[in-house]
Amino acid sequence: MQLIRPPLISKETIQKRVIELAKEILNDCNYEELHVIIILRGAIFFAVDLLRNLPPVNSIDFIKVSSYTGTQSSGKLVVDILPTDKISQQHILLVEDIFDTGLTTSYIKEWVQQQSPKSIKLCVLLEKEKERNGVNISPDYVGFHIEDKFVVGYGMDYNGRFRNLSDIYVLEVTE
Ligand code: IMP
Ligand code: MG
Repeated sequence: MQLIRPPLISKETIQKRVIELAKEILNDCNYEELHVIIILRGAIFFAVDLLRNLPPVNSIDFIKVSSYTGTQSSGKLVVDILPTDKISQQHILLVEDIFDTGLTTSYIKEWVQQQSPKSIKLCVLLEKEKERNGVNISPDYVGFHIEDKFVVGYGMDYNGRFRNLSDIYVLEVTE
């Protein structure tokens, strides 16, 4: 297992794009009404940087759904943590690290939809370029479109490791 150098996306490039994303969100949304739900754990670094570039939002909450072991999606979703703040009649901004198969985000978006929000927007740092079968949602805000490779860093992990790297790397896994 090794990190491919140089990084796929450097911390400087990430920070610049995060500022732009915050501006895009501000153009569309009234920040005072915005209820941000961070999808744990991968989105934490991204969400913190994004939120630092926004004026005070209404609330910040968390949701956690697991679907991964290693580099292959197990296809099974387990809800670990659900948001506790009120969702009904609120403008929700979901923040996620990566849109891969899209199954996790679809599941979460559907769950949020069932709580009758006024609106839901989905912001992801990375979207992998790939065919998606059976997934009919797409993110409203995307930081970077990347190739369909396994990446780590800036919140993203391989079996729990590499999350706290400031840059994003492709990880070569030889199992
Ligand atoms: P999806 O359900 O296939 O879209 O997967 C979403 C989740 O899988 C993300 O929240 C990530 O936690 C994880 N994931 C997908 N691709 C990667 C990757 O390249 N690196 C690290 N985690 C990933
Ligand atoms: Mg994850």
